[in-house]
Amino acid sequence: MSGASQPASSSDLVFVPNAARVAREAGALLREYFAQGVETEYKGDVDLVTVADRSAEKLIRTRLAEVFPEHGVYGEEGTRERLQAEFRWYVDPLDGTTNFAHGFPQFAVSMGLEQRPAGLKPEEAGTLVAGVIYDPMRDELFTAERGRGARLDGKPIRVSSTPNLAEALLATGFPSRKRHSSPNIHFYQEFTLRSHGVRRAGSAALDLAYVACGRLDGFWEFHLNPWDTAAGILLIEEAGGRVTDFAGGHFRLASDEVLASNGLIHQELIGFFEDMFAGRGLAPIPTPEEFAKIREQGNKGTRERAGAG
Ligand code: IPD
Ligand code: CA
Ligand code: CA
Repeated sequence: MSGASQPASSSDLVFVPNAARVAREAGALLREYFAQGVETEYKGDVDLVTVADRSAEKLIRTRLAEVFPEHGVYGEEGTRERLQAEFRWYVDPLDGTTNFAHGFPQFAVSMGLEQRPAGLKPEEAGTLVAGVIYDPMRDELFTAERGRGARLDGKPIRVSSTPNLAEALLATGFPSRKRHSSPNIHFYQEFTLRSHGVRRAGSAALDLAYVACGRLDGFWEFHLNPWDTAAGILLIEEAGGRVTDFAGGHFRLASDEVLASNGLIHQELIGFFEDMFAGRGLAPIPTPEEFAKIREQGNKGTRERAGAG
């Protein structure tokens, strides 16, 4: 795939070896909490947090300070350290908390490193230079460094070669807050009708990692945070894929929207978003009354066939 960086030898990697050790240690901690079960608290109306989220972030913050004492850390559970530093880790200690709290084994540790040259304003974006996503339940480690390729368990990965949306397997997610004001359910429906399907597995970091290694062909979501996306975006770019906003514009960590793909289907996805926002070509769905009639006809057909048999 053009665009994919040539994998360097593992010994050339600057940040990944230490970061991977930290992510693995945090993942092992999550595994223990997962096995024993944890109490759930609410951060908002449906936004969950557990002792596992907080303990994993504390561990990551402590370990990062040991291996990269100069680096800043910006974590979902509140860590804000050395934010003037040239390098800054965006940390999601447990991506997929809702899954975790329900015993659904799909979640990950995500750590993405941004380089921020001196003089950059707080609202300006730096460059993503390293990313690590660790799935503790499958013991899978996704890693990338800018210009040095992306890997799964040390082996080079690349995005899929699926050529069009009709043959694509996609993924998306829904925000835990303000779900009623998200339009994504409409996008979910339309993409489901036009592709091989849309998975909603509950960990944006793993969704992005899966695009990078070709298990998924595309992913989109409204309203993600830098700790959800930083590592996964770099993985996809290093694996030869493409990441933009919904209009095809440059992706920024502060962007609310993420559209990621193998690159080959990207233009089609952008065109589709344009149509959706303009209300063009939407597939009508039956109203509950219409559906009740369709259902009754189906049941009648089944009864007749049973009687005939
Ligand atoms: C969530 C997951 C989910 C996505 C949500 C995120 P969290 O992260 O990544 O897949 O749909 O938007 O908030 O809260 O489990 O770290
Ligand atoms: Ca998250
Ligand atoms: Ca989280």
